[in-house]
Amino acid sequence: MHGQWSSRLAFILAVAGSAVGLGNIWKFPYVAGQNGGGAFVLVYLLCVFVVGLPIMMSEVLLGRRGRRNPMSTMRILGQEESGNRHWQLIGVGGLLASFLILSYYSVIGGWTLHYVVLAARDTFIDANAEILQSEFNGLVSSVGNLTFWHSVFMGLTAVVVARGVEQGLEAAVRFLVPALVAIMVGLLVYAITSGDFAAGLRFLFEPDFSKLTPTALLIAMGQAFFSLSVGMGAVMAYGAYLPQEESIINTSIAVVSADTAIALLAGLVIFPIVFANGLDPAEGPGLVFQTLPLALGQMPGGSLVGTLFFLLLAFAGLTSAISLLEPVVAWLVETRGMRRGSAGLLAAFGVWLLGFFTVVSFNVAADFKFLRGTFFDNIDFLTSNILLPMGGFFVTVFAGWVMCPNSSADELDPTAGTIYKIWRVLARFVVPVAVALVFLNAIGVFS
Ligand code: PFF
Repeated sequence: MHGQWSSRLAFILAVAGSAVGLGNIWKFPYVAGQNGGGAFVLVYLLCVFVVGLPIMMSEVLLGRRGRRNPMSTMRILGQEESGNRHWQLIGVGGLLASFLILSYYSVIGGWTLHYVVLAARDTFIDANAEILQSEFNGLVSSVGNLTFWHSVFMGLTAVVVARGVEQGLEAAVRFLVPALVAIMVGLLVYAITSGDFAAGLRFLFEPDFSKLTPTALLIAMGQAFFSLSVGMGAVMAYGAYLPQEESIINTSIAVVSADTAIALLAGLVIFPIVFANGLDPAEGPGLVFQTLPLALGQMPGGSLVGTLFFLLLAFAGLTSAISLLEPVVAWLVETRGMRRGSAGLLAAFGVWLLGFFTVVSFNVAADFKFLRGTFFDNIDFLTSNILLPMGGFFVTVFAGWVMCPNSSADELDPTAGTIYKIWRVLARFVVPVAVALVFLNAIGVFS
């Protein structure tokens, strides 16, 4: 049987720690940039609140009801509610997704660590866009450098998970997220005063629907899942520790709003810098690393602020990485009878090895392209845009259709009030239909 979070705040902090990470600050701006801005952002926001939020509620409610790791939870609830054990496949898909995501997440986490060192060494001071571009290219073209930082990031993740995650996580997130937001607000002031803020705003919020290809639509939905950490059981795993008297509805709304606000904040900082310096919004995964240092290099105390910023970003990535490794480790411990320490090391070693595919995707194997592009492109596409939406689809179908209304109301709101009713309509109809339509559209059924 599981323990419990010390308070509702502890749960919010843990889920926020999982949700807020590289996805908000590194990934959101670059995918929004690659997919034309405004219309993409609008679809992303819609997906966050209409699809992602009800899925998050469903995951927490299933987690709290099952009180085990996601796979065992789905097996037991499936049996209880429908006599069918196969629902545990949702847990299997989730484990696969977390394993794959972490393999590249750790490489990017390594980039942020490298940038801590660059900032501390005054590299950004008065650097222009060209210098920063070659600095970034220098990093990603070096297999040795990438491997070193990937190993450091993965090692840190493994140590925290192997020692048991609860202690420390709360305290870290409590400090981390506000500190990160404070620095971002400082950078926002820079973007407003020294960047092309109007152009940035227009790019982010003026929808041009001609840019919204079926694939862009799928990527916007995938980004919503990725950023909220839903669709793979991470939130379900944390929900297992939520005390019965806490409101799932309120906590989910709080986390989803905070996560989305931070992503938008990142966009509002980055795009004004992009346009003021004639950079390309569709630059790709290097976008943040080539834009923020420009601002940092020009502001007073930029080296210190930059060091802190990348350090905080690395930590935000670490709390997300922990939530990716934890389900794999919990599964090895609870069903394979391994000791936590060995399970943590084994899982981390596997992820670390797989990470090489991402490492070489930026250099020696950059020209080796298949399906969606490099290895990295494919792992990213498969996880964010296929596995997570599929996981979310089945989680809500289970919570909305298979689970009896008494059980779900019991967890969400025993008085079965308005918000419960809205959740149920979203979970039964809107989420499954929306995910299915976006999928079908992306494989060309409607064109
Ligand atoms: N939500 C994290 C981020 O935005 O960086 C990434 C992530 C963590 C995705 C955990 C999925 C997950 F289960």
